Amino acid sequence: MNTSSLFNLLGKTAIVTGGGNGIGRASSIMLASFGANVVVSDFNLDAAKQVAEEINDEGGNAIALKCDVTIDKDLVDLVDNTIKTFKQIHILVNNVGGGGGGKESPFKIDVEQFRSVFERNIISMWRLSQLVAPHMKKANYGSIINMSSMASIDKSAAMSAYGSSKAAINHMTRNLAFDYGPEIRVNAIGPGAIKTDALAKVLTDDIEKKMLKTTPLGRLGEPDDIAGAVLYFAAPISKWVSGQVIFVNGGGNQTL
Ligand SMILES: NC(=O)c1ccc[n+]([C@@H]2O[C@H](COP(=O)([O-])OP(=O)(O)OC[C@H]3O[C@@H](n4cnc5c(N)ncnc54)[C@H](O)[C@@H]3O)[C@@H](O)[C@H]2O)c1
Repeated sequence: MNTSSLFNLLGKTAIVTGGGNGIGRASSIMLASFGANVVVSDFNLDAAKQVAEEINDEGGNAIALKCDVTIDKDLVDLVDNTIKTFKQIHILVNNVGGGGGGKESPFKIDVEQFRSVFERNIISMWRLSQLVAPHMKKANYGSIINMSSMASIDKSAAMSAYGSSKAAINHMTRNLAFDYGPEIRVNAIGPGAIKTDALAKVLTDDIEKKMLKTTPLGRLGEPDDIAGAVLYFAAPISKWVSGQVIFVNGGGNQTL
């Protein structure tokens, strides 16, 4: 058995949303280092360009494309431009998401803020999946990977928009697996606390100490820890895995 082929992504093309930083950046680099052509997309084009350059400098193959996942035309253009450059699409990492951080008290936010979290965190993922699916079917290989969160199963105050949008990702993933199989697998990853710029906005030393008390593996996560799970779902090693949510969380949970 040629086990190395189970992780080989040569000839596969991946789109990563929010690839300019954090988990998206680490996932782009991980997929490229296992051979994939990578479209690093981000609404911050400079950040995406830096990541693509880093990949190309290391001998990989990446391009950067500007895309705000909340704008439908950007999503359509992202898919069109990927096809123009690489002819096929096999892997989609629906990574962009945000909100939460204990800042969603219903006494402080309005319904538009609630709605915008859903636009960014879930509607964007459903729509981009719809746009790439025909190309994946045509290529006879597809893996859609949706970035959820431990917040999808945790319960706490001032997290109702983020938490419920991430819970929706989990169940959308399970349902879309039925719509898009057998050629396309759809899975989700629920990270615990990962040391990215997004987490830095809310992390203090005291919060970190509290989080580590409920983390068997004794540290917070790094973007690479999540990129490892992205690689697993993207590659043929997980060829009979679909509709699943894997929590990558140091074995515990890290609430604010
Ligand atoms: N960091 C954590 O602790 C953590 C935990 C659980 C889940 N997550 C999830 O992981 C994903 C990535 O988070 P991160 O911590 O790496 O974030 P990050 O802030 O470090 O990076 C996010 C990237 O996405 C880009 N981006 C933001 N909004 C965008 C939009 N509308 N369109 C296109 N690009 C956009 C940003 O420019 C940035 O490059 C999110 O879905 C987040 O909810 C993160």
